[in-house]
Amino acid sequence: MFDKNTIIGIVGSGAMGSGIAQVAATTGHNVVLFDNNATALNKAKTSLATTLKKLEEKGKLKNADEILQRFSFATDINAFADCGLIIEAIVENLDVKKAVFKQLETVVKDDCVLATNTSSLSVTSIAAACTKPERVIGLHFFNPPPLMALVEVIPAVQTNDAIVAASKTRMEQWSKVPIIVKDTPGFIVNRVARPFYGEAIRILEEGIADIATIDWAMTELGGFRIGPFALMDYIGHDVNYVVTETVFQSFFYDPRYKPSFLQKRLLEAGWLGRKSGQGFYNYGEGIQTPVPVKDTVLGNKIVQRIVVMLINEAADALHLGIASAQDIELAMTKGVNYPKGLLQWADDWGADKCLAILDNLYKEYHDDRYRASVLLRKNGILLRKFL
Ligand code: NAI
Repeated sequence: MFDKNTIIGIVGSGAMGSGIAQVAATTGHNVVLFDNNATALNKAKTSLATTLKKLEEKGKLKNADEILQRFSFATDINAFADCGLIIEAIVENLDVKKAVFKQLETVVKDDCVLATNTSSLSVTSIAAACTKPERVIGLHFFNPPPLMALVEVIPAVQTNDAIVAASKTRMEQWSKVPIIVKDTPGFIVNRVARPFYGEAIRILEEGIADIATIDWAMTELGGFRIGPFALMDYIGHDVNYVVTETVFQSFFYDPRYKPSFLQKRLLEAGWLGRKSGQGFYNYGEGIQTPVPVKDTVLGNKIVQRIVVMLINEAADALHLGIASAQDIELAMTKGVNYPKGLLQWADDWGADKCLAILDNLYKEYHDDRYRASVLLRKNGILLRKFL
């Protein structure tokens, strides 16, 4: 279905679109990069040239000029006429994406596959806007696409099986790690990772520990590369809060995904994190970073509460068949760089221990948020056996 000669079309030349375009061109494809904003497109053109040259200088690739020649830049959608695969990476808005997919179908060949890089919308809804919904699929890359290996491959309800298989193979040929995920809110990574942020905020709101202590516990004792508050500030609250709210609404208001007022207020104040100079932390010049309370008893409790909630999400996703056990492990290690897979973590701690922590939280709070997945409740089950 796809081969090296397939011309790849990318809609949207922002952070994700230009990153995906770089991956495709580096692998040898000719790429048409399209944006309806000429300024954005020019910016992408300049920064792609700079990035590829820098990679060449560092010895990470040999042929920057040759790769650059594979690009064409377009503000006219008709430039997609000869493409075999188009990946859309425009603004995260369902109505706008549906309109673009409808327009794409009037331009492309009958056998052109149409993919969306949406991080939170229903791929099935986007497919439903098309006259040939069976050719639509989700290909969810992570930021920055050239560096992050994971790609979530999301068949819509209508997607043709052959397109799913060919897309997975193509992603492997792009040196990516593709996993197959059901079209459900947040797919795998953005669903399973919610407690990393949400439970950390709960601990803060309850006055159990401050941001510096929670971040210290999760990095030093939990082994995560970055703590939850530093990460939320890095992602930006305009993105991170909105993903949480979208996942919560899409799950019919399941309390497990309930957003926090604290983060909502940061967003309302324009305290978006690193990019605005202030989020949970203050990034102003000369401002001292808050000092954590390095109490390992407290720290281990924090790690236990957040990690058990992550394990519960992973176990429940497995129970509901959202992805295979292997793919759930790959998602969290390759998509968000967790120190180990969550199912592996469950086995290392033991399902009984995980269940006891969750049941204690449930007893204490009487909140459905802490209900344990039935998979953990099945006594003595080893999640490893699914791997
Ligand atoms: P961005 O804002 O950096 O870029 C979007 C680009 O699309 C802009 O250049 C804009 O001019 C262009 N655009 C908007 N509407 C258009 C239209 N109708 N036709 C043609 N071009 C149009 O956005 P970003 O961050 O690259 O995100 C794009 C998509 O990727 C979104 O769906 C987002 O949810 C998803 N995504 C984003 C990630 C991230 O970390 N930024 C990670 C994974 C997925």
